[in-house]
Amino acid sequence: MQISEAITSVLTVRDYKHGAKAPDAVIRRIVEAARSTASAHNRQTWYFIVIKDRATLEKLTELSKTGEHIRFASFAIAVVTNPSNKWHRIDGARAVQNMAIQAWSDGLGCSWVGTINRERVKKLLSIPKNLYLLTIVPFGYPKRTLSGFRKNRKPLSEVAFGEKFGANYESPG
Ligand SMILES: Cc1cc2nc3c(=O)[nH]c(=O)nc-3n(C[C@H](O)[C@H](O)[C@H](O)COP(=O)(O)O)c2cc1C
Repeated sequence: MQISEAITSVLTVRDYKHGAKAPDAVIRRIVEAARSTASAHNRQTWYFIVIKDRATLEKLTELSKTGEHIRFASFAIAVVTNPSNKWHRIDGARAVQNMAIQAWSDGLGCSWVGTINRERVKKLLSIPKNLYLLTIVPFGYPKRTLSGFRKNRKPLSEVAFGEKFGANYESPG
């Protein structure tokens, strides 16, 4: 898949083929995509916990109000950042986007889960107290074929301007 195709077609996926296993090499590529991300001052104040254990995935589901689909994922990655760095959330979010695009190009979908009982998940995953659990990202093979998904975005004219805010952007395409 071309990069531009992956970027424009990637979607949030919550409907996974239940527990279908992803090869370790694919998981490794996703983790490398996270590690390769640029960060403010190149501080890289992030950690990525790969969770494959089904009992842990089940517990994470119970501790995530908006993460009902975690239990059906192939695996999940908890993204942990360090609040001593004021850019930690931005850096972590960019790493998640790189993971999502890498996963998509390997046929996997994922979703950011944000409403989490952070204190309890931190205990469950032995995350040090001073660190921040940014998100849990479940990954899995979509139940539908990728062509069965539709993206819903604002039109370009509403979000892109030429030279000044609100001015028409003349796009060649
Ligand atoms: C910062 C952030 C937080 C999100 N939190 C959740 C969440 O807690 N649970 C969930 O199912 N999806 C969550 N999502 C997924 C969004 O709802 C989804 O990306 C958005 O509706 C667009 O869908 P699409 O990517 O399929 O077009 C989150 C996405 C982002 C970027």
